[in-house]
Amino acid sequence: MKNNNYIVGSGGYLPKKILTNYDLSKKIDTSDEWITSRTGIKERHIADKNQLNSDLAFEAAKRAIKNSKIKASNIDLIIVATSTPDNTFPSTATKVQAKLGIKKGFAFDIQAACTGFIYALSIADNYLSNNQATFALVIGSEIFSRILDWKDRSTCVLFGDGAGAIILGKQKKNKKSRIISTELYSDGRFYNLLYVDGGVSLNQKAGYLKMNGKEVFKHAITKLVKIVKLNLKKNNLKINDIDWIIPHQANKRIMVSTAKKLKIPFNKVLMTIEKHANTSSASIPLTLDFAISKKIIKRNQLILFEAIGGGLTWGCSLLKF
Ligand code: ACO
Repeated sequence: MKNNNYIVGSGGYLPKKILTNYDLSKKIDTSDEWITSRTGIKERHIADKNQLNSDLAFEAAKRAIKNSKIKASNIDLIIVATSTPDNTFPSTATKVQAKLGIKKGFAFDIQAACTGFIYALSIADNYLSNNQATFALVIGSEIFSRILDWKDRSTCVLFGDGAGAIILGKQKKNKKSRIISTELYSDGRFYNLLYVDGGVSLNQKAGYLKMNGKEVFKHAITKLVKIVKLNLKKNNLKINDIDWIIPHQANKRIMVSTAKKLKIPFNKVLMTIEKHANTSSASIPLTLDFAISKKIIKRNQLILFEAIGGGLTWGCSLLKF
């Protein structure tokens, strides 16, 4: 089945409050120097205590709809990728659907930690290709500040809150923009490298994020390099054909090492980690939206998304913007 769906437009939202490395160094035993040199992060946005995940997702969605020049009523599929939903149920996606005043179609959440947006994009792409939807709103939205142990300096400095959204639509026959292909993987044997120690059936708590950073780091580089090469090969494309890589924004060092191993010049790697930190499933659509709004990315360019996260889950998408 030939994929013929494309990214019509994007939107992003970051909460107003900014927490800098310097602010953190006043609360815990850390420094701007340590955080910047190990991760590339300088600051992160933190949601107001009255804001819910669905509020962030709704803001990003409104902007994506506006930038796509469509009406909310055109949307008949909403997928929210998140690990930090408003409620255990109903889904954050149905809340966004109601906030947007959409009364048709279907909406649901998916959870694949930091790979969530790539999973969600792939699912939406399949629904559109199967003619089960015409315009999909795909959102990555997270409030990781609510699952961080703010006394654990090895994790709390790494994450931020935010939401990014895209509209996926069906392409007209003579246009080149389209999702080319997506590779998705998971391996549950590695679940304890990155997880949250709470859950409904586990202990009825939201829990705190736990991470074996060094091990995740190693898995990230080897797994991402492998699947990017595989995806390119399957599509008869070469590294040099890629115009821009948008990696999940977990750590600048992972992005540098992955680019080096792929032999892709680092000036083709788009980064927002300095200002956003790791926003998990929101990091790719937020970076995409940043690059589109700054006119860095142009139509018909070849873009690669890649991510790894808790599960472990990992994946990559190749697309003509
Ligand atoms: N400030 C100062 N010192 C710190 C801090 C901090 N914030 N955090 C840890 N340290 C100390 C440690 O205690 C340790 O001290 P010691 O040597 O006295 O024991 C020292 O710094 C080195 O700590 P390491 O953990 O070895 O540091 P490392 O170089 O591995 O960097 C990091 C840690 C940044 C977490 C890195 O391992 C990493 O980025 N890993 C990958 C994270 C990732 O990609 N996650 C995936 C996505 S997230 C998701 O899916 C939800």
